Amino acid sequence: MKEKTITTGFSRLDKDQKIELVSSHLSDPQVFSNTLHASWHRDPEVQKMIDEFSENTLGNYFFPYGVAPNFLINGKMYMVPLVIEESSVVAAASGAAKFWAERGGFHSEVVGTEKIGQVHFTWNGGFELLRLFFPEIRRLMISSTERITANMRKRGGGILDIQLVDMTDKIPDYYQVKATFDTRDSMGANFINSCLEEFADTLRDFASGRVEFSAYNLQVIMSILSNYSPDCLVHTWVEGEIKDSGHHYDDLYTDREFVTRFETGVHIAQVDRYRATTHNKGIYNGIDAVVLATGNDFRAVEACGHAYASRNGEYSSLSKVEISGNTFRFSLEVPMALGTVGGLTHLHPLAKLSLQLLGNPNATELMMIASAAGLANNYSAVKSLVTKGIQKGHMKMHLLNILNVYMATDDEKKHAVEYFKHEKVSHSAVNSFLESMRR
Ligand code: MEV
Repeated sequence: MKEKTITTGFSRLDKDQKIELVSSHLSDPQVFSNTLHASWHRDPEVQKMIDEFSENTLGNYFFPYGVAPNFLINGKMYMVPLVIEESSVVAAASGAAKFWAERGGFHSEVVGTEKIGQVHFTWNGGFELLRLFFPEIRRLMISSTERITANMRKRGGGILDIQLVDMTDKIPDYYQVKATFDTRDSMGANFINSCLEEFADTLRDFASGRVEFSAYNLQVIMSILSNYSPDCLVHTWVEGEIKDSGHHYDDLYTDREFVTRFETGVHIAQVDRYRATTHNKGIYNGIDAVVLATGNDFRAVEACGHAYASRNGEYSSLSKVEISGNTFRFSLEVPMALGTVGGLTHLHPLAKLSLQLLGNPNATELMMIASAAGLANNYSAVKSLVTKGIQKGHMKMHLLNILNVYMATDDEKKHAVEYFKHEKVSHSAVNSFLESMRR
């Protein structure tokens, strides 16, 4: 541990100088430096572009890029790219995708694409005066942003509405300008934030230029999009027939028993927030993996989904089951703001190719694909949990990671994979197996 010195001028160092300085904080500076250098893209132009995504970039951090085939969504077959480090997520997505492809696939519809932004401000002149002048302020806001919105309007999007919201029951003198936007195929964060900052200037100028406002004080506190976009929503479901004669999963349960257990499993996630959090995490295993693979913002998508999961005052499951007669229906309703243009979508070399692999979808189609991946992972997780448990399958997928920890050779791995087909996987079991092989 180094003493607590403040590092100054770090951002002004060149990349090699930064690596040298950071390496000196590690016990083996050479290994750190070599590992970073080895992570660089072989094309210096591509590496330079990746470096410029962020600041103080030293190297690239690898995540596996995988694919789950057989995603049939609204009758169209997709190979879905997934960026995820957790063993078994891609296998779970692929398993569920194939299972449902044989039963009509995923059905999906986008319910809305509206995004939201706010200018938060304080004003000590009361609501009535503001309300009186707001139609004029709104008109000025629209005209002052015409340059910013011109291209978006050409594409059929733009500002949908601007409202004044009285928030004084929460904080004295606190108001909002709450605006809604259609950002078409872009995620729209920069577009929305630029409009909001222009709205804020318009509001400030109006307040300081009007004699009716002169006795009072208006202060803009901040202008920023909201990552909570409940009306940018996608609804995705699968539906299947319950065969009373059918048997499921190593003959453990009949079809009817299985769907009843599945329904109870999901119901628990609807009423218990401890279970709901893990249940929804399983949904985001699939969604985040698509969001990352396509160069989108997974923090925004997750934050929005978890806020939506609490919209009724209690954090709850994002998915639900309906059983009616012989029909089993498993559905997911989730908001997400995604883009297929702008941001990193066409800059990151693999994000661009992911979109190509998906047939260059627009933003609404990508919402359907990401939500189908979420529902697929959720289906596989709950299916395993209410039947044989997840640990057996999970540890099987994790076996290679454990073997790598013990630096197993390819030959040892081959034997271990065969041996653990019939044995329980654990760190100690793998260690003993390798010891016996190495004796
Ligand atoms: C693990 O990444 C995800 C699960 O925990 C999800 C769930 O419990 O539903 C298996």
